[in-house]
Amino acid sequence: MTTGQPRIPLARPVITARERELVLEVLDSRQLSLGPMLARFEREWAERIGVRHAVACSSGTAGLHMCLHAAGVGPGDEVITSSFSFVASANAVLFTGAEVVFAEVDPQTFNMDPAAVEAAITPRTKALVIVDIFGYPAEIPALIDIARRHGLVIVEDACQTIDGDYDGKKLGTWGHPAVYGFYANKQLTTAEGGVILTDDDRLAALLKSLSNQGRSDDGAWLVHSRLGFNYRLSDVHAAIGVGQLEHLDQMQAGRAQVADWYQQRVRAIPNVEPMFTGPQRRSWFVYAPRLASGIDRNAVITQLDELGISAKPYLPCIHLQPFYQDQFGYRPGTLPVTEAISASTIALPFFPEMTEDQVDQVCAALATVLTRDRAEVAR
Ligand SMILES: Cc1ncc(COP(=O)(O)O)c(C=O)c1O
Repeated sequence: MTTGQPRIPLARPVITARERELVLEVLDSRQLSLGPMLARFEREWAERIGVRHAVACSSGTAGLHMCLHAAGVGPGDEVITSSFSFVASANAVLFTGAEVVFAEVDPQTFNMDPAAVEAAITPRTKALVIVDIFGYPAEIPALIDIARRHGLVIVEDACQTIDGDYDGKKLGTWGHPAVYGFYANKQLTTAEGGVILTDDDRLAALLKSLSNQGRSDDGAWLVHSRLGFNYRLSDVHAAIGVGQLEHLDQMQAGRAQVADWYQQRVRAIPNVEPMFTGPQRRSWFVYAPRLASGIDRNAVITQLDELGISAKPYLPCIHLQPFYQDQFGYRPGTLPVTEAISASTIALPFFPEMTEDQVDQVCAALATVLTRDRAEVAR
């Protein structure tokens, strides 16, 4: 069935003439990697957040991996993180040879419950990967307190919470490194890319070296003083990011406006729970409300698709991914709170340039699908 309206995508980056201009500037300069545009992108991030260093890298995943590696996490260690996240939060731990331990999440914020984190600590626990999911900051002060008491390293996966803060204090300024990811659906994109924010001079130098094949700290020509990676961000990608930074505030305001339209309308739709609003500011990344239990989410998604609206089950929990089930023996029932959230949240179209009419269209379709024939969508 078609509605005659253009299809509404799940996400759509805003790309302006400025990104084009800066990309062309890099291409014309012939300095495509390790050039001034990369340095500019890093400097502008550091200034924006108010940290001493922003180390750019090829992806958020690369940033997480490097931070864990730099902290000495390795075989025999355990690292606690959330299963209600993108698979990279846990994969980055596996890359180091350490074991992943999943802590239950809070049913409202969907972020790790500090009490569950503390209960998961063993003598082998070395680090916490704090995830700020769906743009809502985790309980940073409580998690820092736990880490201090148990002598744990913290790496913050802020890939979905670009420019976020807790109690007004920016993520990245809390004394541990925070990582942003710049995939195309993020609040700011470089197509692919990431950045690590830190005030620690020694860590920043190490991360810079690790991202560039372990290049010696004095930058000597082809001298490699440690085992590193090729996790560099090219200047072409950095140019997109510099252009994006110039209108990040506008894009964030666009997302906040779209979220506001959604929240008002979703409240009126039976069997849909709007996104949580709490004491912290959300850096809007996705609009993913919860469907009531008993609603067949896949059927809803199929019917929305028939009405020209893209929607996805989001986010599948990590421990039930086929690889994690096969490798580590996880089965449904391991993390009931995480699994219940993961089974009921649905990502709806969400991007800064979405119009109020489009939000109306999505919400009208959702209401129709959910009320049209309950038998069809009820399990
Ligand atoms: C929570 C979270 N962590 C890590 C990542 C990984 O980032 P990237 O795709 O840039 O490697 C993402 C990206 O989607 C993410 O959402």
